[in-house]
Amino acid sequence: MAIWNLGSINADMVYAMPHLPAAGETLAASSLDRFLGGKGANMSVAAVRAGSEVHHIGAVGPDGHWAVERLQSYGVGIEHVTQINTPTGHAIIAVEPDGENQIILFPGSNRALSQEQLKQALSKAKPDDILVMQNETSLQAEAAQLGRQLGLRVCYAAAPFDADAVQAVLPFLDFLILNEVEAAQLEQAIGKPPGAIGVRDVIITLGAKGARHIDGDTGTTQEVPALPVTAVDTTGAGDTFTGYVLASLDQGLAMEKAMATASRAAALMVTRHGTADVIPELTEVQGARF
Ligand code: RIB
Repeated sequence: MAIWNLGSINADMVYAMPHLPAAGETLAASSLDRFLGGKGANMSVAAVRAGSEVHHIGAVGPDGHWAVERLQSYGVGIEHVTQINTPTGHAIIAVEPDGENQIILFPGSNRALSQEQLKQALSKAKPDDILVMQNETSLQAEAAQLGRQLGLRVCYAAAPFDADAVQAVLPFLDFLILNEVEAAQLEQAIGKPPGAIGVRDVIITLGAKGARHIDGDTGTTQEVPALPVTAVDTTGAGDTFTGYVLASLDQGLAMEKAMATASRAAALMVTRHGTADVIPELTEVQGARF
């Protein structure tokens, strides 16, 4: 099977800061690095490094050739990544010494995908393939609806969180991933707890406490603990978790095992500076000692 990812592609400009800047504050960074990023690209790379076949559906501008080349060099299928006349998305990311971050996002070409491109890409998908989206591109609801019609397993990683964006895709979802605060916000917006929203699988990530799976059919829950690491950069850890969970499920692992593997991958990721380029390979994830 394969994973189809309607996903953002960004240039991540990562600034090492003594602390996250406050409103009105001018603060010098001690370093600047550029990485391939975007929640979508991060998930695609994570899923490939976890061993799955991934086809990315996205768009870059005239300045984004390097990003497509890099995705391809990492093994991501780029046949459905187009170049359009809108600048490539980018993110300005401030990271403080304990790994906490602050992100300014310029969506650029990520929000300018065409219906035609989406339809053409998904016409190549096979029933039971996985379709994943995040909230950084255009056409999320259209993709979710089309994915459901085609019999794909439709997954939404609700980041950056927006309750309206989640509600637009909710009727078509098989799988929803969000964090604890977002789960509470969604419950407030729709008046139902995550286990009662009609989605078969819901994962709530719990930060340092791990992650919880809720089976929407039976209401049962299972939790995996987080692993003890010293974080230097939390950027992209959630995307790594999502990419690894989906790849593990795609390869037939049970949910608990998929979450445990993803949790190890995310733990390793927070010990590294950077985004897509530094996502760990499966062999590193399996061999890591925590
Ligand atoms: O989740 C981290 C990602 O968020 C970064 O790679 C950045 O591009 C933004 O999309």
